[in-house]
Amino acid sequence: NWTPAQIIEDQIARVREQVGDRHVLLGLSGGVDSSVVAALLHKAIGDQLTCVFVDNGLLRKDEGNQVMETFSQHMGVRVIRSDAEDLFLGKLEGVADPEDKRKIIGNTFIDVFDEQAAKIDGVDFLAQGTIYPDVIESAAAKTGKAHVIKSHHNVGGLPETMKLKLVEPLRELFKDEVRKLGVELGLPYDMVYRHPFPGPGLGVRILGEVKKEYADILREADAIFIEELHNAGWYHKTSQAFAVFLPVKSVGVVGDGRRYEWVIALRAVETIDFMTARWAHLPYELLEKVSNRIINELSGVSRVTYDVSSKPPATIEWE
Ligand code: XMP
Repeated sequence: NWTPAQIIEDQIARVREQVGDRHVLLGLSGGVDSSVVAALLHKAIGDQLTCVFVDNGLLRKDEGNQVMETFSQHMGVRVIRSDAEDLFLGKLEGVADPEDKRKIIGNTFIDVFDEQAAKIDGVDFLAQGTIYPDVIESAAAKTGKAHVIKSHHNVGGLPETMKLKLVEPLRELFKDEVRKLGVELGLPYDMVYRHPFPGPGLGVRILGEVKKEYADILREADAIFIEELHNAGWYHKTSQAFAVFLPVKSVGVVGDGRRYEWVIALRAVETIDFMTARWAHLPYELLEKVSNRIINELSGVSRVTYDVSSKPPATIEWE
């Protein structure tokens, strides 16, 4: 019979024993898993932990600042922030294929992370937010059993190139247990219970080629959707909700002119395991409010649609 407090104490002891007085590096993404690892390791080894946070320009609105505020300002964790938007967007220029985009974003992340890590002296350990389902998924991928093999940086990749020993304190835990640990460690509730966000971020929510103009519009549209879900008490009734940028021009009439502008699709799903999902039956009033706000507040968007596709066959993400 475990309690979050016991697991934390246990892991703190294990981490201290594993790393001694050596230095640990952690890639902080702002997601639940790496955040909980950061809080746990900070508690266990304090200044022996250095986090690297890579802002790839494909994050949700204000996400980078929130990560820095929570960890650097509030908790006193040593975090190096790398603002790499230009680098990522440059590498993505002219690339429309979703799997190519995933690979580029993943590889660029590793490059930036390596470059930052090289500046820190005497690192012997790399901490990762690997949780039990990642271990299973990665084992399945190796035996060819996985239905979808994601180019994802959670498991594998970094250790080979960096020759660091791994610290993975969440390896035996499920997501709900990780969340409870996060709350116990004092992380903000909203961070711990936030919807999942894919590693490639907005890169796979802008269909086809990624451009800064599109990312900026999408970030705002997504923030409006999420804010209204919270206001209506629907955020936690959905498992994942987000906006998607459709690079097609649709007509809108403004005054006596016809304007051809972009389309935003809204996606909200309910799911237990993310393998199957049902589209969330959001109230029409809520959808109306979100649609009106997006069209009125964002220049360049003339139409909003709601995705009513179930998984399978439609995946949760559009790419
Ligand atoms: P799909 O779209 O496959 O999504 O129904 C299932 C869950 O996986 C997330 N997802 C990803 N996460 N890298 C990630 O880290 C990816 O490339 C990726 N693609 C999808 C998706 O957000 C959903 O939670």
